[in-house]
Amino acid sequence: MNEILSLNKVTKSFQYKTAVNDVSFSIGKGEVVAILGPNGAGKTTTISMILGLLQPSSGEVKLFNRQPNEKQVREKIGTMLQEVSVIPGLKVSEILELIRSYYQQPLAMKDLIDLTGLTEQDLKTRAEKLSGGQKRRLSFALALAGDPEFIIFDEPTVGMDITSRNRFWQTVHYLAEQGKTIIFSTHYLQEADDAADRILLFKDGAIVADGTPAQIKARISKQSVSFIVDPERPLEKLYQHEEIDDIYRKNNRVYVQATNTDRVLELIFQEKIGARDIQIERGKLEEAFEQLTSGTKEAI
Ligand SMILES: Nc1ncnc2c1ncn2[C@@H]1O[C@H](COP(=O)(O)OP(=O)(O)OP(=O)(O)O)[C@@H](O)[C@H]1O
Ligand SMILES: [Mg+2]
Repeated sequence: MNEILSLNKVTKSFQYKTAVNDVSFSIGKGEVVAILGPNGAGKTTTISMILGLLQPSSGEVKLFNRQPNEKQVREKIGTMLQEVSVIPGLKVSEILELIRSYYQQPLAMKDLIDLTGLTEQDLKTRAEKLSGGQKRRLSFALALAGDPEFIIFDEPTVGMDITSRNRFWQTVHYLAEQGKTIIFSTHYLQEADDAADRILLFKDGAIVADGTPAQIKARISKQSVSFIVDPERPLEKLYQHEEIDDIYRKNNRVYVQATNTDRVLELIFQEKIGARDIQIERGKLEEAFEQLTSGTKEAI
């Protein structure tokens, strides 16, 4: 693997909080990787360390086998951060020309416009007068201005309307085809599934799963059997069977998770649970994802 990025036992502690805890992974050339996780999972902190904007408390980040904030590295990377800030007083076209002039081989102005969907009107507008979505387009164009090999986006589609969103992912797809290495963060499993070929699932500052979207989905979407049962009825007997992965109550129903739901049905009858209104639930992916990342599962 032609390694572009590596994190080795990286931890970032703030005064009262460990935002990223002993994280290690590496990313090869041409990979499109989603950093997926709920609010506060450590996505932005990780991205800031990859970009050299924050120093790890311990551990090491290497980008192109160097320190992230070295000049030779900065020239090869493009980024779009969660907080968009723009240079006030200049028109969009002027800002783009200015930033392009910093690079030896910038992307042609026409390509930047085509790839990001900036309109003629956008180009004439002063940066501070842009709407949130237009600012994001500008920020996207600035990320691509230097024709970077490695691109990192922190929640790129927040505030984009559906047309801008589609265009954004189309461009990401095109960039991936050009062999660029791309990392983006998102809260949405669907977005990660659609756009990435690998997902790093973050929770509480750690990676809880790393794999292809198919592997992650298979891991988090378990089947379950649900039923109504007398609340007084003990369910301990079901727990004793190791084929059962989990049991929880939700909305007056009991859910029994397992890979093999036929076996769960057998056990329900065998143990004379007294289950009524039995249903087989196909793994609901979003629900399973929420459970995995929120940790608010009701104890039984
Ligand atoms: N500068 C800071 N000082 C103190 N705590 C911080 C700082 N930056 C982040 N944190 C804390 O670290 C944790 C991780 O924050 P981070 O911004 O990396 O999460 P995130 O995954 O990007 O979340 P979101 O989806 O909301 O953007 C949070 O609990 C946050 O409050
Ligand atoms: Mg964030």
